[in-house]
Amino acid sequence: MEPVSANVRKRLICGNWKMNHTHFEAVKTIQDMMASLSDEELMRVDVVVHPPFTDLRSVQTVLETERFGVFLGAQHCYFEEKGAFTGEISPMMLSKLSVSYVIVGHSERRQLFGQSDEIVRKTLLSVAGSGMTPILCVGETLLDRESSQQNDIVCSQVEKAFNKVSSSIVSKMAIAYEPIWAIGTGKTATKEDASEMALVIRDKVEQIQGREVADSLRILYGGSVNEDNCLSFLRDVNIDGLLVGGASLDGKKFSAIVKKAQK
Ligand code: 13P
Repeated sequence: MEPVSANVRKRLICGNWKMNHTHFEAVKTIQDMMASLSDEELMRVDVVVHPPFTDLRSVQTVLETERFGVFLGAQHCYFEEKGAFTGEISPMMLSKLSVSYVIVGHSERRQLFGQSDEIVRKTLLSVAGSGMTPILCVGETLLDRESSQQNDIVCSQVEKAFNKVSSSIVSKMAIAYEPIWAIGTGKTATKEDASEMALVIRDKVEQIQGREVADSLRILYGGSVNEDNCLSFLRDVNIDGLLVGGASLDGKKFSAIVKKAQK
């Protein structure tokens, strides 16, 4: 079977706001995006914003009232549906707020809050089970890359996350390759490194889930992406979109990236 061309996969541009923006600032950011992006532009590319939990309801209200075609995303959740898990939020709670995408296993969750591969796997299943799309984050440390272990590390993260996860879930998902040394440092991976890793990831998914699933899943790059460098990643056939941190906090700047992602 011939591989599906990257042209068939719709681009996905996600803005991860991390722990930034009060709900007032969140609404202003969405309003700035509304002033910058047309319905046509939002039909050609899937665009997601991932505000902090405290902003979700306000952003949902604006998106729905204004019929603005940006998807609502979350940055994290816990895999259980409800119970004595102080401080946590469940997939069920997010889906009731019309959240469509959830970032799972971001390196900041893994490194700062000890999220294990097994928790990542359970969360991914739980998010998909609640009808939302998980965006699985993978990526190596600088030490891993300097010792040429990046492919092994990333493949192992993919393998552990997808253990006993059905192909119908994986085919609709996205994987974001975010090298940890490129996050918030102003240092991006080269286009070649990002492209090569996207290929390695797609091959790994093919090994686990078969060609059809590997061809339909979207692979994103994240790590110091901005308006000036985004095109070099977007032009690459192996990369289907971007997970943007800092440059997504300003509605106008994020919209400029979305405009460049038009095919
Ligand atoms: P920066 O774009 O700020 O480097 O963050 C990337 C990221 O971690 C997105 O999830």
